[in-house]
Amino acid sequence: MNIIVTKNFEQTCERAACMIADVIRQKPDARLGLATGSTAQGVYPHLVKANRVGKLNFSRVSTINLDEYVGLAPDHPQSYRRFMDENLFDQVNIDKSNTMVAKGTGDIEENVRAFREALAEKPIDVQLLGIGVDGHVGFNEPGEVLYDGAHVAELDESTIDANARFFATRDGVPTRALSMGMGDILRAKKLILLATGESKAAAMKGLLLNEELDVQNPATLVKMHPDVTVIIDRALAEDIGYCG
Ligand code: GLP
Repeated sequence: MNIIVTKNFEQTCERAACMIADVIRQKPDARLGLATGSTAQGVYPHLVKANRVGKLNFSRVSTINLDEYVGLAPDHPQSYRRFMDENLFDQVNIDKSNTMVAKGTGDIEENVRAFREALAEKPIDVQLLGIGVDGHVGFNEPGEVLYDGAHVAELDESTIDANARFFATRDGVPTRALSMGMGDILRAKKLILLATGESKAAAMKGLLLNEELDVQNPATLVKMHPDVTVIIDRALAEDIGYCG
């Protein structure tokens, strides 16, 4: 694992955006695996800015997202499709028909099938990842069994608690989501995992301070990947006692 410790979260986001931009410059028709959440949200403005000043071209780029809530229509303010449209797709010169966020409403089994088909179409050149408080990536929650492919995940209580800040009430948080599987994530050619904040310290300790692959901390499986970069800020590194 390549581990980068930055001065602060802003620098973490800049580094991640720079790595994604490099992939696009080397391969203008790259397929990006994208993530939502407040951590990933810090990365997109840097990509938007590079696009606006003519330094990054999305015209041939395609994307596929990690996950989507079951029960939220694409235009729901908290749907991950809406998040992606607002934070990236509507602000750059991407062809929206080349963007894929699984659909959370309608026939969910059919949507999982469509998600699996989309994943099989073309490899992901770079996958951006955040991490949940419980170590989930995408919505691969801790458990005795982890999944290879796209599936419907039951969200852990701690995940519902963490995501409640985006909804008017905790009861409004969906309890299920469509998610790429751990296998899908590990099949991406390059992984970039970002973390910030002390709530992520326990999960990040498992990732950075030992060699265990722990199904109760799914993010630890990225240790198996041959090209993974983990970017954290100094404050989080100090919290977990990581000294490089
Ligand atoms: C959600 C997403 C994850 C994301 C996680 C952390 O659960 N499904 O992909 O990594 O939130 O979000 P945040 O960065 O807001 O802490």
